[in-house]
Amino acid sequence: MEDIKEFIASAIQKALENTVQKQEILEKIENPKDKQNGDFAYPCFHLAKILKKSPVLIATELKEKLVLNSRIEKVEVVNGYLNFYINTKNIGEEILTRIIEEKEKYGDQVVGQGKTICIDYSSPNIAKPFHLGHFRNTVIGSALYRLYEALGYHVVGINHIGDWGRQFGLLIEGYQLYKDEYNFEENALQALSDIYVRINQLAKQDEKIMDKARENFKKLEQGDEESVRLWKYFREVSLKEYNRIYEILNTKFDSFNGEAFYKDKTDEVIQMLEQKHVLVDSQGAKVVEVGEDMPPCIIVKSNGSTIYATRDLAAILYRSRTYDFTKTIYITATEQILHFKQIFEVAKYLVDEKYQKGLVHVPYGMVRLKTGKMSTREGNVIYINDLIQEAIQKSGTIIENKNSNLENKETLAKQIGVGALVFHYLKSNKLKEVIFDLDETLRFDGETGPYVQYTYVRTKSILEKAGFDEKKALLEKVDYTLLKNDYEMDLIKELEKLPSILQRSAEEYEVSILARYLIQVATLFSRFYTECPVLINDEALKKARLHLVYATSMVLKKGLSILGIETPEKM
Ligand code: ARG
Repeated sequence: MEDIKEFIASAIQKALENTVQKQEILEKIENPKDKQNGDFAYPCFHLAKILKKSPVLIATELKEKLVLNSRIEKVEVVNGYLNFYINTKNIGEEILTRIIEEKEKYGDQVVGQGKTICIDYSSPNIAKPFHLGHFRNTVIGSALYRLYEALGYHVVGINHIGDWGRQFGLLIEGYQLYKDEYNFEENALQALSDIYVRINQLAKQDEKIMDKARENFKKLEQGDEESVRLWKYFREVSLKEYNRIYEILNTKFDSFNGEAFYKDKTDEVIQMLEQKHVLVDSQGAKVVEVGEDMPPCIIVKSNGSTIYATRDLAAILYRSRTYDFTKTIYITATEQILHFKQIFEVAKYLVDEKYQKGLVHVPYGMVRLKTGKMSTREGNVIYINDLIQEAIQKSGTIIENKNSNLENKETLAKQIGVGALVFHYLKSNKLKEVIFDLDETLRFDGETGPYVQYTYVRTKSILEKAGFDEKKALLEKVDYTLLKNDYEMDLIKELEKLPSILQRSAEEYEVSILARYLIQVATLFSRFYTECPVLINDEALKKARLHLVYATSMVLKKGLSILGIETPEKM
């Protein structure tokens, strides 16, 4: 069933005799801050041009034509706005029975059925450490993955790993020079990263190292056996380390086709661009012009080799054929905004318009430690695995101090520690810079993962104390009209929003909308629970309130699971 906002949008669309798309109406509908102005408000100003009438007249006429049902108590026209007031008498019944029926499926939708979305995310560079930026990338990508699944899409998660390029020539050089000085048994990725930092420094001072690196890469490209063996080894040890992180985060990839996968698929790109006569020479390189406001996109460098962009273009071609995607979403730091603008322009010459229009870059802001920007080259990096272990250890201490009688403390510490990290990255707008502070992240109050988890645990313990039986809940006769004070109503109305919150998060590629929503649900729940005792003698009211507690627990669990955060039963 449609949620109330959608129901209103549909009703408006019908009253307008379909002259405006439902999506456009949905985007215009607001939630007035002051409840005096209703629960939803529809501004009619954007219709004035189309209908050639004043907004006030449009609103007045619309009000007459609207066909609504008992979900809406009344509609008022105020200064070109249509204000809708939800019928609070029915809303409790409607929302709570729906959630209790649908359980963890509440919020799921069918808009995506039959459509495929590719999400290109995480995508670290081989042999370089996995830093906080990649971590942010991974949790955003994972959350979008689950979000689109909830909306009914078929999702393909792609890890476009940086496993090709000139840095491998450099790495081979470094490996040959220094390998005996490092312990590869213990932590091969660490050793490789250290070597990478060292050889980069040496190359800065010594031109000859760069020449050697170029030579090595050439050999690798030509398939020299020893070079290929080394490349494979570097790739393997790196992937092994990344997989530890992915496992702990419950991150799923359906493909690990990285840059190397496309190295033999760039010729076709070049040919197609030549056939379209858009590939032009520029100081020895081959480029495609992409408009006045951007530098041309380099396809082949003057030394004849292809680059990152060329392989990305080959990937677009390949993915359109293999996955027939509705959208491909790329998640990277803001530094790559220009890169994606350029290749999306060039893609016009390679794939059907429907694919080209479906290419979306989702940039995120930098992650900073208090000490400054992180950079692989300088080696100023926190290893994510260390960070995760530290978060787990610290949450272990926190719960031990709070309540040392808990069972499964290890699992708990993991759920809380990892959840805290993930939530921290997801709660701020993706473009905003995140300054990382572990202790802040782990707090049990404030806008944190543990706070939302803790609220969930509270709902569970109330239900347990009351002997609430999930299976019987739906069969019980409950008088939901007993839930009518502001604390109860505000919480119910908030729970009602989950489906549209999921939709908006996906439309804006902004999972922080969902994270912030969960904080709001948790806050409204705490307010409700402080003001409205649940375990009371009035059986009828107790039952109704228990159902509200149960519905809240379902919404929190669903939301957290989409973000990739587990819900402990006790903490
Ligand atoms: N490996 C790149 C990096 O770490 C990100 C790759 C993003 N995906 C893509 N198809 N270009 O910066």
